[in-house]
Amino acid sequence: LPSQRLSGQHVIVTSGPTHEPIDPVRYIANRSSGAQGTAIAAALRDLGARVSFITGPAEAAPPEGVEVITVQTAREMRAAVEAALPADAAVMAAAVADWHVANAGAGKIKKDGSGRPPALEFSENPDILAWISQLQQGRPRLVVGFAAETDDVLENATRKRLRKGCDWIVANDVTPATGIMGGSENAITLISEAGAESWPRLSKGDVGRRLAGRMADVLVGEGR
Ligand code: C5P
Repeated sequence: LPSQRLSGQHVIVTSGPTHEPIDPVRYIANRSSGAQGTAIAAALRDLGARVSFITGPAEAAPPEGVEVITVQTAREMRAAVEAALPADAAVMAAAVADWHVANAGAGKIKKDGSGRPPALEFSENPDILAWISQLQQGRPRLVVGFAAETDDVLENATRKRLRKGCDWIVANDVTPATGIMGGSENAITLISEAGAESWPRLSKGDVGRRLAGRMADVLVGEGR
């Protein structure tokens, strides 16, 4: 079947936000619907890949026909990615929180009547994309990261690709006026060692299909 170009290939996809608890009832998080990560996982599945879909608490329902691993925090997400290895490719589409609350309350934090809010202390989360990109052993052959930027998108994303060590960066402008965040369309620039390629504004489904196709070109060759 020409549509099963990725059969036999295992791809890890992270998606959605992570939730970092402040106490049992409160959390901090990044804004992420999980729509683009879900569309990418579905497109990879449609090309015949075995997909491990590792998602934080997202609005979007996970695709059918993939292995769904649900996590809350960045630390759990990293452990789930590690447990899913080895993989031929990895797409890190999750909006991972950069920090977790180091002094999170075991019980609900109460107002103490002093008028002073509690002081939260933050610790840096593991950078899952940088970690998997720089694995000395068992690195997926193709690692794709995302860069959601509001300013100097191309410049920041190009630098991010080198800093993290991933093969490709999917860069998008998430300035609120674009309507991309939480919307059904996306306008991305694919950045690789070869340069930057801007795609027209497409549905997130079409971005997923186009990206999955490009991944197949690299993983199994353009002729197949
Ligand atoms: O550094 P920044 O968060 O902008 O990088 C975005 C890219 O890195 C995305 O692909 C995201 O999934 C990934 N990332 C990650 N782990 C983190 C932070 C970001 O995998 N802790």
